[in-house]
Amino acid sequence: MAKNWKNRTKLVHSGTRRSQYGEVSEAIFLTQGFVYENAQAAEARFIEIGDDEFIYARYGNPTVRMFEERIAALEGAEDAFATASGMAAVNAALMSVLKAGDHVVSSRALFGSCLYILEDVLSRFGVDVSFVDGADLDQWRAAMRPDTRAVFLETVSNPTLEVIDLKAVCDIAHGVGALVIADNVFATPIYSSAIECGVDMVVYSTTKHVDGQGRCLGGVVLGCKELIRSTVEPFLKHTGGAMSPFNAWVMLKSLETLDLRVRAQTATAAATAKALAGHDKLHRMLYPHHPSHPQVDLARTQMEAGGTVLTIDIKGGKDAAFRFLNALQIFIISNNFADAKSIVTHPATTTHQRLSEEQRQQLGITPGLVRVSLGLEDPQDLIDDLLQALSRA
Ligand SMILES: Cc1ncc(COP(=O)(O)O)c(C=O)c1O
Repeated sequence: MAKNWKNRTKLVHSGTRRSQYGEVSEAIFLTQGFVYENAQAAEARFIEIGDDEFIYARYGNPTVRMFEERIAALEGAEDAFATASGMAAVNAALMSVLKAGDHVVSSRALFGSCLYILEDVLSRFGVDVSFVDGADLDQWRAAMRPDTRAVFLETVSNPTLEVIDLKAVCDIAHGVGALVIADNVFATPIYSSAIECGVDMVVYSTTKHVDGQGRCLGGVVLGCKELIRSTVEPFLKHTGGAMSPFNAWVMLKSLETLDLRVRAQTATAAATAKALAGHDKLHRMLYPHHPSHPQVDLARTQMEAGGTVLTIDIKGGKDAAFRFLNALQIFIISNNFADAKSIVTHPATTTHQRLSEEQRQQLGITPGLVRVSLGLEDPQDLIDDLLQALSRA
């Protein structure tokens, strides 16, 4: 691959493996296994596998490999391992590096399933987890211990869009020899600076922007070759979290349009943030690149643009939020985001329902909070839809 390609070229060509037929569109290798010429060849492949050789789709597959190489090229990471879902990627990143007796420091503002792994699962295996306010660097410093093995964070948190200072947290973590694992889905692979900032393992739910059209679940862990192939791959290939070749093909073809889609959706999100800021039916509107965001300077330094999602807090609590959701005519009510279709989500009663009332309060997930994911529809139609629904809230 040419090293000086810009992202849009990488997204169309990086990682391509053509079969003997010379197909234009990448092939989908919908096969679980691979045939060996003879018994000696099978033995040899199990002893040492070549770059263009495969054993079993749980370990790797040509279509999955194309996807991994293309997304790694975009992220500026040496390597990647694709997974069945975003949560399989989060789980694998953590489980592959941790053992009983280790300590983890994590930001508190996390997606419910990430919190489940950190709070419920890791403690059952003897891993001690300390939670900090991700925006407070003093809390990160104070939480580090000599046995801290990993730091986990969402670079932009779900759903309150709190931004974490990646460079500073990486410096603090690396100071005690801890690895930094960042769930970067809200920052998007297009605006990511995670690897430059020092993150050791970047994790995405590719269910979000990468597919971006509501079809497949997927995830990926990215990092240096050593971590991905010697630590993450053995864990994933023996525990079964691999991405299916069909989903990898959907994700691979989706990468071709990722830059165009994310930039268009981001432009709509920024215009929507401008239209909603200061609206008299709202307590607040949160969008990382809007001047009213408490961490706008950090967001502007760390992310090239503000992303495709904003959050609003509607006056009048749950009843008003539900009236707003039910009055929308273009936006659909769902719990995914970063889709071509604009989506609204009420986190307190859906994605973050399993949190206690106290946890929700601590994270600012109020009864009136609505996450708004901007799609590919006409921007003015979307703004008009939000404004008419707000007038009925
Ligand atoms: C921040 C974050 N991480 C991980 C996930 C999990 O992704 P998946 O649904 O692909 O498992 C989500 C899903 O909403 C998310 O918001």
